[in-house]
Parts: sequence; structure tokens; C-alpha cells
Amino acid sequence: MKIVNGFDLMNYAKERGLMLPAFNTTNLEMTNGIARGLNQAKLPGYIQISSNNLRLSDAETIVYLTKKALADSDVPIALHLDHGKSYEHVKECVDAGFTSIMIDASHLDYEDNIAEVKRCVEYCHFYGVPVEAELGCIGGKEDEDFNEADAKTDPALVKDFVERTGCDLLAVAVGNVHGLDATPKVDLPLLKQLVELSPVPLVMHGGSGIDFGIIQECRKLGLLKVNYGSDLRKAFITTFGEAYEKNHMETQVINLSLKATQAVADTAEKLVKIINE
Ligand code: G3H
Ligand code: ZN
Repeated sequence: MKIVNGFDLMNYAKERGLMLPAFNTTNLEMTNGIARGLNQAKLPGYIQISSNNLRLSDAETIVYLTKKALADSDVPIALHLDHGKSYEHVKECVDAGFTSIMIDASHLDYEDNIAEVKRCVEYCHFYGVPVEAELGCIGGKEDEDFNEADAKTDPALVKDFVERTGCDLLAVAVGNVHGLDATPKVDLPLLKQLVELSPVPLVMHGGSGIDFGIIQECRKLGLLKVNYGSDLRKAFITTFGEAYEKNHMETQVINLSLKATQAVADTAEKLVKIINE
């Protein structure tokens, strides 16, 4: 299949009552592993890559590799920019062929966050690409960067924020954290309140480390997207770490890369199945 448009993927999931996992990729092997894992599970989802990761290559290269990875895919998969840092990154990714976008301006004050998201929405919607925005600040480590703040989403702002920005998905901070260092404490009553107030579906960041029972509750509440990064990176890196621990003279990068790809695939398969149980 081709890379699927983000609006089409959202509708596909809504029609079937599915929750979409968004798996962070870092490199070619992880991209192939995620595509394989979703196909092993026969379930849809996102391959996503953070703005940080654009330091390793560029948007066009990522689109090219993703197209190749999805050539034999039988399930719908979109390519999403995760934690887009700026209008320029958003534009670069849309122009290259990303089919779903996040602009994360949550570090700005409220009015500036709205203005930045609105600017990105205008650009993305012109090309039929949906936009995820963030209200509140999700704590912990995001890829290799530390977030500065950790403030829960204020329910009083949700409706105003969504209506004024025109965003299509809203990432919320409800005690979820990025990375594996901090322990998430998801505030389900607050989440329920946010779902009821939000005109658009909500997104849970920091999926790694959140109890599966809680994620399944989130799906029942109507959350549409859950992000998993660290769990996949851990699966990938463990393959190399274990081989090195076993033999400090290990140099089999090709074989280990193939093994790491499969480890990512199996982790993605397990996660997408569990969240949709
Ligand atoms: O945006 C990316 C995710 O929120 C990843 O979080 O590494 O805790 O799974 P995680
Ligand atoms: Zn995140």
C-alpha cells in the first residue's frame, strides 16, 4: 500500500472502534520493523518520527524509506511528524509527503501556542493533512531531549483551544510522561473530563510504561492515538547490547540489524494487539 492519508487513517480506525498506535522510528531498520509488526498483527497505525530525528537525515529521505517499507503492507499506515518543533519543520515534512503532522508549541504561552498551531493548520489543511497539537506539557524525556515543564491540561481551555486552532487531534497531559525513567500516573477522571469537552479525538503520549489496563480504558473513553517510542527503541538497542555483552569482539552488524528489526516488529505487534483487546 501507499502511505495512507492521516484523515483516512483516523476514519478507518473510528469506523472500526480501533485505537491507533503511533510507533516512533529512528532509522531504516526500525521503520521496516514497525511496518512488519503492524502487518503481523493485521492492524493499522502510524509510523512517526520526531523533529529531533530530522537531524539524522531529512524529510524526503524518510518519506522514500517509508514508501519502500510499506510497499508490501496490507494494512493502512500513515507517516506522522511527531513533536514538530516549528512551522518550517512542518512545511518541510508536508512538502516531502508526510500524511499527518504534529506541531508541538506547548512550551509557548497559550495565545502563542494557538497562533503557531493555527498557522500550521492552515498550511496542512490546504494539502489535506491533519494536525495534532498539544495543550499542557508532558513531562519526562522525549527522544534525547528533556522537556522543560510538566503541567496537566486545563479543561477550561480545551474547547477554546481546539476551536481557535482548528486542530484535528489533541495531545493532553494527564500524568503521562515520556521515556522509561519516570513513572506515569494517568489521571483517568481528568482524562474523561477532557474527552467530554474536546471537539476532536485525544492523543496519549508516553505510552511506554503505562499499564495496558489504563490504555484499554483510554480506548473505551474514545482516545484515538497512543504513542510508543521508548519500548521500541529498547527492543532495538537490547539486541546490540546483549550481543556486545556476550562478545566484546562482536562485529556482525548486518545479522544484528536483521535481528533488531524483528525485535521491533514483535514489540509493535504485541503492543497494537494489546491496546485493541
Ligand atoms: O511522542 C512520542 C511518545 O510520546 C513516546 O513516548 O517513549 O514514553 O513511549 P514513550
Ligand atoms: Zn510524545
